[in-house]
Amino acid sequence: MRINKYLAGCGVGSRRFCDKLVADGSVKINGKTVTEMGAEVDENNDSVTVDNRRVTYKRREYYIMLHKPKGYVSTVKDDLGRKTIMDLIDIKARLFPVGRLDYDTEGLLLMTSDGEVAQKLMHPSGEVSKTYIARIEGNITEAELQQLRTGVMLDGKLTNLAGVRLLDKDDKTSRIEIVIKEGRNRQVRRMLESIGKTVQFLKRTAEGELRLGGLTRGTYRFLNDKEIEYLLSL
Ligand code: URA
Repeated sequence: MRINKYLAGCGVGSRRFCDKLVADGSVKINGKTVTEMGAEVDENNDSVTVDNRRVTYKRREYYIMLHKPKGYVSTVKDDLGRKTIMDLIDIKARLFPVGRLDYDTEGLLLMTSDGEVAQKLMHPSGEVSKTYIARIEGNITEAELQQLRTGVMLDGKLTNLAGVRLLDKDDKTSRIEIVIKEGRNRQVRRMLESIGKTVQFLKRTAEGELRLGGLTRGTYRFLNDKEIEYLLSL
């Protein structure tokens, strides 16, 4: 993060005040004086001093995992007056969803007060793998599973390689796990529709190493330090 934000997060003063300290040459990162406003600090590894006194960053941002239920939009506001994920959150800080889940999809949705991190995590170049469980009508053949793995045509472009396996099935339905690294609009539903399947239920169960686990539908929890570190390292 930028040096002024880091220093403000250490309780040194406002960002503007911290800019002045940087310009004055009072700030060192790993023993080297920095005077550029745009200098970046890795809050997990760098050592920062102001007038040769070490400062430590106190995390003030929120990083939470929500189990979004079906029937909620994953935006902060909705023009159509539908329920939004904000109806499930009782935190006063301004939170940004990291990515989206569509109205009918449930599961893991990350949210943070750190707009910079949210932006970074949503950038297509850094797409982290996302794991979904889909229940579809009827059966699915090995050839169809293979088609999903190697790519199907969506919007005139093949989808990237995906991890796809059949979890279980009964007379009427099949459950499939799908792991993708892209985030195209309604991607999993459209991948399945493209091979003629009707999706009855879709849930995101993981993003990278972060797992939904037993989090109750409609509730959220704060990420622990290890999970936050992982998120910030992406
Ligand atoms: N794929 C979908 O079809 N929907 C989602 O919400 C996420 C991925």
